[in-house]
Amino acid sequence: MAALDGMRVLDMTQYEAGTSCTQYLAWLGADVVKIEGPHGDPGRYVGPPLNGGDPQYFMNYNGNKRSVVLDLKSERGRQTFFELVPHFDVFVENYGPGVLEALRIDIEELRRLNPRLICARVKGFGLSGPYKDFMVYDWVAQAAAGAFSVTGDVDGPPRIVGPTYADSGTGMQAAIGILAAYVEQQRTGLGQVIEISMQEVVTMFMRTLEPEKWGQEPAGRHGYLRGRAAGGLYPCKGEGANDWMFIYPVTSQMWDALCTTINRPDMVHDERYCTAEARVANVDDVYAQISAWTSQHEKREAMKLLGSAGVPCSYVFDTMDLFNDEHLRARDFVQTVDHPVVGEVQLLRHPLRMAGTEPMERSPLLGEHTDEVLAEVLGMDAAALGDLASEGVTRPRV
Ligand SMILES: CC(C)(COP(=O)(O)OP(=O)(O)OC[C@H]1O[C@@H](n2cnc3c(N)ncnc32)[C@H](O)[C@@H]1OP(=O)(O)O)[C@@H](O)C(=O)NCCC(=O)NCCS
Repeated sequence: MAALDGMRVLDMTQYEAGTSCTQYLAWLGADVVKIEGPHGDPGRYVGPPLNGGDPQYFMNYNGNKRSVVLDLKSERGRQTFFELVPHFDVFVENYGPGVLEALRIDIEELRRLNPRLICARVKGFGLSGPYKDFMVYDWVAQAAAGAFSVTGDVDGPPRIVGPTYADSGTGMQAAIGILAAYVEQQRTGLGQVIEISMQEVVTMFMRTLEPEKWGQEPAGRHGYLRGRAAGGLYPCKGEGANDWMFIYPVTSQMWDALCTTINRPDMVHDERYCTAEARVANVDDVYAQISAWTSQHEKREAMKLLGSAGVPCSYVFDTMDLFNDEHLRARDFVQTVDHPVVGEVQLLRHPLRMAGTEPMERSPLLGEHTDEVLAEVLGMDAAALGDLASEGVTRPRV
């Protein structure tokens, strides 16, 4: 049985910050019912449609869920939504500031209808403070949490960080809060309201960056690590944009193993290189010595030689490598699911390898489960379902 078997989630999330939260709960076995407006989650329009179906972006964040179309701007839609509320354990939303209120959905009213309900609200800057009404996408939150200020060349401008960890990091942290509240709900029978600010989420990833300077001066840029005891990016053999290797020998044993592997045992005792301080002082020289070896080796070969010698390192994977690398393939990291419109879809597996998770499933079509859920949860018959559809409340408009 899946770990969260029995947990029911009313999922009013969009794009990534909320959808990644509810998807995690679904992977752990929760029944996640995604309530979408007639046009669907705007995530269904991010990127090119695949074979006339949803884009890969949407499918990456909405697998293992059911989709119900409910027009919350209609009175019947709102009424149906309020009827659903008592049957669920969790409600999650990441609408823009004031959107829930404009839909006349009051959190306190939801809690009156269902005291067990756990309500998670994701906002860019939270629900209070001077910036609370500002709209936020991933990189906005990263900028607001200091992430760009520590990224880039030491003397260059701040840089954008590629991965969207403000969004998915928010989803993960929201899921942690929901799981804790669920444990408490099982004990006390009561839910609670969880508020998550994306800005504050990203600060969780900032706590290693020169904390000794906190409150005194800003941390510097860290996109360029050559100055740190030989840690950094080194060019490998080949002309590809990602024919590079990242090496990070922190301890003296790691440094010794690096020197031995690159056939430079003399560097182990050479006073220009034998301490971290000396390597920092002679950083250009160190870089030249290590590069002379890496540039003779293809990146995968270099990783095998250094990694097996005990040197922390990885070649620079590009996103194709995520699908083709022998290690990830050996672990079945890429999963293939069948989608009724798109055909075969490849998904990157979630990282939890534990009993109690569900197999990866495809994302739902817009409104695919509307009738199924309303009949199952509210006991609606065919006539009632037909009425809702003919009024346009549950009919997709795409
Ligand atoms: C991400 C964000 C900037 C997008 O802004 P946006 O595209 O204007 O979307 P909003 O959330 O403001 O509005 C959603 C709209 O869909 C409507 N909607 C959503 N579900 C609906 C439903 N079931 N029925 C009818 N309408 C619905 C809302 O009423 C709202 O309509 P409006 O434009 O008339 O107000 C904003 O949602 C936001 O700041 N969210 C919080 C932070 C966050 O999660 N950011 C990261 C997203 S990955």
